[in-house]
Amino acid sequence: MTTLNTTPLAPLLDRLFEEAAKAETSAALAEFSPEERTRLMRSKTDYLDFYGRLKDLPLAVSRETGVLLYMLARGCGARTIVEFGTSFGISTLHLAAALRDNGGGRLITSEFEPSKVARARDHLTAGGLIDLVEIRVGDALKTLSVDLPETVDLLLLDGAKALYPEILSLVESRLRPGAFIVADNADLSPDYLARVRSPANGYMSTPFADDVELSMQIG
Ligand SMILES: C[S@@+](CC[C@H](N)C(=O)[O-])C[C@H]1O[C@@H](n2cnc3c(N)ncnc32)[C@H](O)[C@@H]1O
Repeated sequence: MTTLNTTPLAPLLDRLFEEAAKAETSAALAEFSPEERTRLMRSKTDYLDFYGRLKDLPLAVSRETGVLLYMLARGCGARTIVEFGTSFGISTLHLAAALRDNGGGRLITSEFEPSKVARARDHLTAGGLIDLVEIRVGDALKTLSVDLPETVDLLLLDGAKALYPEILSLVESRLRPGAFIVADNADLSPDYLARVRSPANGYMSTPFADDVELSMQIG
């Protein structure tokens, strides 16, 4: 048995994923045409406004990506994880569960929307994982620019898509050889994809499922 598929985490995630599925049809999302949504998600300047308007929505990774995150973090024996984009903490719960089952560690996650931080904190507390997680409140361009662990085993990119290259640059020097980088909806960040898909930049990379780019630091 794992922390992921036992109480209290398993029923908590069932509930959170059910709520996330309902939120997919919310009025807040319907305010944006598909074109406008894509434009805003690709923007390096409008992300505060865009995500601010969606502050009541979880915008979570899929169940499958959640399991993938847990398995990758377990498989590489992760002890240090950095996450860009906490939201309600659904991906964070998967990553922290893996740290717990690896024997402990440190997860630094970042979110600028204070109401989301409060929800994530509640969920991590309910899941019995809050002791492993440091939530940095504010723009990740600032909060992830200081005081990172010496080495990072796994990086999850799931905040504003246009900032993936900048956030990778902040963490890159800490990634250990073999470290994984999981980028959700990376198709919205062509610069990021070009960078991790060029072996000269020190990564192996492949698209995975419909919405994930999985990369590995090859040192
Ligand atoms: C797609 S959601 C994250 C979902 C979360 N990883 C999960 O699976 O539960 C993206 C989140 O990133 C936050 N975000 C976007 N850009 C950010 C930035 N520059 N700094 C901090 N948080 C940011 C948004 O407020 C939003 O809550």
